[in-house]
Amino acid sequence: MLFSSFCWLDLQSPLQTWDITLIVLGIETSCDETGVALYDSEAGLRAHVLFSQVDIHAEYGGVVPEIASRDHVRKLLPLINQCLEAAGLTRADIDGVAYTAGPGLIGALLVGTATGRSIAMGLDRPAIAVHHMEGHLLAPMLEADPPSVPFVALLVSGGHTMLVEVRSIGEYKILGETLDDAAGEAFDKTAKLLGLGYPGGPALAKLAEQGDAERFRFPLPMTNRPGLAFRFSGLKTHTRNLWLNGEQNDTTQADIAAGFQKAVVDTLVIKCRRAMQHTRAQQLVVAGGGGANLELRQTLQRAGEKYGWKVSYPRLEFCTDNGAMIAFAGCQRLLAGQTTGPGLQAFARWPLDQLPAIEIPGS
Ligand code: KG4
Ligand code: ZN
Repeated sequence: MLFSSFCWLDLQSPLQTWDITLIVLGIETSCDETGVALYDSEAGLRAHVLFSQVDIHAEYGGVVPEIASRDHVRKLLPLINQCLEAAGLTRADIDGVAYTAGPGLIGALLVGTATGRSIAMGLDRPAIAVHHMEGHLLAPMLEADPPSVPFVALLVSGGHTMLVEVRSIGEYKILGETLDDAAGEAFDKTAKLLGLGYPGGPALAKLAEQGDAERFRFPLPMTNRPGLAFRFSGLKTHTRNLWLNGEQNDTTQADIAAGFQKAVVDTLVIKCRRAMQHTRAQQLVVAGGGGANLELRQTLQRAGEKYGWKVSYPRLEFCTDNGAMIAFAGCQRLLAGQTTGPGLQAFARWPLDQLPAIEIPGS
C-alpha cells in the first residue's frame, strides 16, 4: 500500500465549506473497545457510548484479535442505536460518518469500516476514514478549555509512543517515537510479569500508588543521549531481573511497580521538555491510554508550571479508546471538504505524518 498516493481520499467532496453545521457519527473499533459517538459541529458532543471487551479477553491474558472482531460485530449496531437514542436523534439526522480505518487490528478495523461505510451509503451521506492517533491527539479539543494550534502532542497508547509537532490540525511532524515497546505496552508487559494480569497498565498504576518509587534504581532509557526517540523494553527486563532475583512479597511488588512507573514518567517528561525547547511551543497535549496515568498527568502539570507551558489532557474516559475522538477528528475533515472514496480499506499500519493537511476553504 502506497500511503503517499492517498487513493482512499476523495478531495472532490460535495461538502466544500466550513459554514455548514454537521452531525457526525463516529465509530471506533481498532482494538478491544467498541466506541460510538455523535458530534455536532455547532453544539459539540451530543452523546457517546462505549463497550469495553476487557472482561472477554482477560481469561486469555491479552487481546485475541479474532474474538475482538467478532465482538465488535455483535455490539456495534446496538451501540449506534443506543447512542442515537441518548442524543435524541434518528439516523436521518446523521450528516456524515467517521470511522477508524487504522492503525490497529485489521479484522477489528474492518468491522467499523464496513459498518460505517454501509450506513453512509444507505443514508447517502459522506464518510471519512480517520487515523486512530489523530483521534487521540485531537481528543483534548473536546474539553471546555481546548488547546489551540500550534502545540506538541505526547501520544502514549498501547501501540504507540510518540512526540508530534502539530502545526495545524492535519499537519503532523513526528519528532520522535519508540524504537521498541510503546509505553502502554511496557506497562502491560511489566504488569503481567509481576502477576497483575490483564489489562496491566491501570493495575500497575494502582499498585504503584502504594509503593516506594525510590527503593529500586531504574535506568531512564535514551535520556543520556540527544534526540527524542524512546525505548522501553529495557525497563521491562530490569523489572524481570529485580522481581525474579529478589524476595517476592507484596511490598517488593508495589515498590517495583512504583519504581517502574516513575522511570517511564521521568523519561517521558525529559523528552517532552526537549521537544518543547526544540519547537519553542507553549502548549503540550497529552493523549492516548497512557495519558490516563495520574502520575504522568501530575508530573507534567508541575513541569508545565515550572517551564511556562500550558498542558492539556482529555478527560480520563477520552484518554483511552472512544468514539468521541473519532467523530471529532472526522468532523474536522468533513467540514474541510474531505471524504473517503468508496471501497473497504483499513490499514494495520498507517503513518500519521502522511495524512493530508486540512485546508480551510477560502483561506
Ligand atoms: O490508547 P489506548 O486506549 O489504546 C491504544 O490505542 O493502544 O491505550 C491503551 C494503553 C494500554 O497499554 C494500557 O495499559 C494503557 O494504555 N493505560 C495505562 C493507564 N490506563 C491505560 N497505562 C498506565 N497507566 C494508566 N492509568
Ligand atoms: Zn488508542
